[in-house]
Amino acid sequence: MKREEEAVISQYAPFLDLMRKRRSIRRFEPRSVPPSMVEILLKAFDSAPLAGGDRGRRCLMISDREVIRLLAEKGQQAYLAFLSSIESPFLKEAMDNYGQNFFWFSEAPLIAAAVVRCPPSFLDTFCGPEAALFWGGHLSAAMGIENLLLMAPALGLGGCCLGGPLIVRTALAELLNFGPREELSLIAALGFSSES
Ligand SMILES: Cc1cc2nc3c(=O)[nH]c(=O)nc-3n(C[C@H](O)[C@H](O)[C@H](O)COP(=O)(O)O)c2cc1C
Repeated sequence: MKREEEAVISQYAPFLDLMRKRRSIRRFEPRSVPPSMVEILLKAFDSAPLAGGDRGRRCLMISDREVIRLLAEKGQQAYLAFLSSIESPFLKEAMDNYGQNFFWFSEAPLIAAAVVRCPPSFLDTFCGPEAALFWGGHLSAAMGIENLLLMAPALGLGGCCLGGPLIVRTALAELLNFGPREELSLIAALGFSSES
């Protein structure tokens, strides 16, 4: 390997280390995430690429324990109602197993909820569900959440992406104050890890 190449690689190794350090953390210490760290996480979220430069993406930081508990509780209730509507015992059991990791976040100190503004409806009219792929709103939200999860270990925090709860996205959205045409895209639970 050439010397300049080695120099470049050694310079970027700490960044790769940081990325490799990221793993899903699902248990947290009770202490809150300081507002200064919440600000940094938001900056990380906002620096992710954005499809079409559309400013419709934002990240809602929820640190109110009561709201977090309510989100997990209402989400679980809506999910159980959905589960009981499944007639096939086989499919119900499969769904139940799959859903075991959806609503564990009630004691998380911080929830980052990525919110996107839905695309103009003409896209749906012409392209149907395929529109979601090239519209890129949900993909942009996921990139923002990934940035935030990569920043977390640099702040001594841990976190976990939560896509499962979106199965009851509408029930969760009812508890949050969304603007017109806004939709919940992806959630992450964050805090100081209590995992060994
Ligand atoms: C889009 C997405 C959705 C996820 N949804 C959930 C979830 O609902 N519940 C959960 O506990 N983990 C969820 N995870 C975390 C994955 O289970 C986890 O990333 C995977 O097991 C790999 O482990 P690692 O993150 O420690 O590398 C999700 C991850 C991604 C990327």
